[in-house]
Amino acid sequence: MKPIATTTWKSPSNIAIIKYWGKKKNQIPENPSLSFTLSECFTETSVSLVSKENKSDELQLQFYFDKKENIAFRLRLLNFFTSIQNDFKFLKDYGLVIYSANSFPHSSGIASSASSYSALAAALCDLEIQLKTKKKTTEKQLLSDSKWMKKVSLFSRLGSGSACRSPFAYASVWGESAVVKTSSNDFGIGAENLLHKEFKTLRDSILIASSNEKKVSSRVGHSLMKGNPFAKARYKQANDNLKNLLPALKSGDWETFGAIAENEAMTLHALMMCSNPSFILMNAHTLSMIESIRNFRESSKVPVYFTLDAGPNVHLLYPAAYQKKVLEFADYELSGLCENGKIIHDFAGKGIKKIK
Ligand code: DP6
Repeated sequence: MKPIATTTWKSPSNIAIIKYWGKKKNQIPENPSLSFTLSECFTETSVSLVSKENKSDELQLQFYFDKKENIAFRLRLLNFFTSIQNDFKFLKDYGLVIYSANSFPHSSGIASSASSYSALAAALCDLEIQLKTKKKTTEKQLLSDSKWMKKVSLFSRLGSGSACRSPFAYASVWGESAVVKTSSNDFGIGAENLLHKEFKTLRDSILIASSNEKKVSSRVGHSLMKGNPFAKARYKQANDNLKNLLPALKSGDWETFGAIAENEAMTLHALMMCSNPSFILMNAHTLSMIESIRNFRESSKVPVYFTLDAGPNVHLLYPAAYQKKVLEFADYELSGLCENGKIIHDFAGKGIKKIK
């Protein structure tokens, strides 16, 4: 069946330096976060609108992941679409056919919710404009429209909080902060202008300590902050860390950047360890990697730091100028600690991209 309108968007994952951990109702974060937008770990999603089989208000959706129909993901998406159907009226008027695929394997321990919801939100917001104007859109037109970008980010957030930071080039801030003028709890904003040019060369080599499914979902992790006795202090710490990070990002101060990145990562894991119930999200290899990175940095003076998401994989963060030295070190000392020697080399990139 020939679609009435169609579009394909690609969106990357992102890596948070200041972590979002703890949320209120409607995906409102407890504290501001800041992330770098990645390049190589991305989702590509095409959404086509077709004539509806029946005229009821019920949503009609076919969902294919890696070209295969995926019923579990379809159900999750149906919930999402139901929650936003009043914002995108066309969801009720047409049938939707969605194809989605990730550049990274499903079981690589890399979260795909940020890239997948941001790619999907970009596609929906694009289709909305196409239907309204009855014209094809261009990437340039959409990406230069700040209202459109806000909308993409807002609907990404409703899918998964961290997804709202993915649309933007190089870096993004999400969550109200006294030190970032236009920041908002509702959507992320682009933070490229907050970066010294060296930070645009950020590399992120992801050391896969384990590719197992996450031990605890983000949803449960965030909710555990509600009863955590350190929650209030944590939210203050995130605000303080963001305040101290900004001048470092602007001046190209990798040492302060690295100290804050590591402090945020360790705090995230400590919070999970002291939650009730308690979770240990690192494994023995994660700890060995951290020790090894710190020893190498000390002896070599190479500016290489780490961060962690809510899992055991270690993100090695460093400027492109040190790539050769860091890769030698990673090959020699870290790859043996990775599952099947797996390291995914990623780098800061440009955000969402319209493919078709
Ligand atoms: C540890 O965005 O996955 O990666 O809003 O429930 O989908 P939901 O949570 P999610 O949480 C990500 C948490 C984190 C830190 C971060 O990316 O800021």
